[in-house]
Amino acid sequence: MSTDAFTMDDLRAGVAAAIRAPSLHNSQPWRFRLRYGAIEVLVDPRRRLPVADPTGWAARLSCGAAVFNLRLALAAAGTPAQVRLRPDPAEPDLVARLTAAGPRPPTPTERGLYAAIPRRHSNRSPFWPTPVPPEARWRLLEAARAEGAWLELVIGPAPVAALAEIAHGANRVLDRDPRYRAEVARWTRRVEAPDGVPVGSGGPVPEPQDLFPQRPFGVRTRAPGRDLEPEPLVAVLGCAGDTAADQIRAGQALQRVLLTATDARLAVSLLSQPIEVPAAREQLRLALGRYGTPQIVLRVGYGQPGWPTPRRDVAEVLEERDQSPGVPRTAGPAGVTAPGVQ
Ligand SMILES: Cc1cc2nc3c(=O)[nH]c(=O)nc-3n(C[C@H](O)[C@H](O)[C@H](O)COP(=O)(O)O)c2cc1C
Repeated sequence: MSTDAFTMDDLRAGVAAAIRAPSLHNSQPWRFRLRYGAIEVLVDPRRRLPVADPTGWAARLSCGAAVFNLRLALAAAGTPAQVRLRPDPAEPDLVARLTAAGPRPPTPTERGLYAAIPRRHSNRSPFWPTPVPPEARWRLLEAARAEGAWLELVIGPAPVAALAEIAHGANRVLDRDPRYRAEVARWTRRVEAPDGVPVGSGGPVPEPQDLFPQRPFGVRTRAPGRDLEPEPLVAVLGCAGDTAADQIRAGQALQRVLLTATDARLAVSLLSQPIEVPAAREQLRLALGRYGTPQIVLRVGYGQPGWPTPRRDVAEVLEERDQSPGVPRTAGPAGVTAPGVQ
């Protein structure tokens, strides 16, 4: 097995792909460094959201999504990576170490999902009434499963209404906290910026008749009749546990689902208020009645494409000099995945 097969150009392209991952309020809570000929992904604790994300769940999910893009980019370049999650117990911010696992050509799946990275973005606008066909639904379920997570489609008016009620309850709890409102406002961008949510991507201004609570990023009021769809396809992504490694795995699964959706020309927006409020998350877990913990809610459909949101430069997040301090400490073989994206 070669450990030094990544070229610097491939690593830079990999990081450029990684930072296209979604993150709570587009906070981009990641950094990347080179060690022992490998590339490492870390949570950047300075960019964690203290009010919406006090435990670091969202930062780990976002970094997991970035890991998935990095895996894809390296596989697309012909040098798939072997991934070890949380390789050093003494460094909890270290999310993953990716080591070159020997060259091979990318698979059609790797090519297709990699090509979807620049096209993927959150779409908070109303979707068209066209239903999501069974084949596309099946692809989304398989995408989550391939990364060791599950995706539960919430089907039928009563289950969707129950989920909506949980989400509104969570939103009311969050909204009562002035620190939460201030944090959302701080990450809302009215002028061009390399992070935060641009008002133009924020979707329509929330209205009382909306089925789900939308974060108040947008400034666009709606023309009469341009409501959000009354029966969206809603899905909950979850995984077996809720450890830091589970959340990183869930982030990878989320990104695989999102890219699979983009590849199928589907639009997606994310909803995490029911995860941010512990009591609501527990209600959601009970309502789903399945083993494991919910990690995020997705709204899926067809709609007018929007546009990608800004990111900070690669140079700002990638520490290029390999400063390996000696022999790598590892947490043992647990968490090693097969190279690339199978
Ligand atoms: C853990 C997590 C939670 C999120 N929660 C929400 C949410 O509740 N509402 C929302 O509109 N977007 C949510 N998003 C989407 C982010 O706002 C979005 O990814 C970010 O602004 C970057 O934009 P992009 O997805 O278009 O690249 C969430 C994303 C992540 C990773």
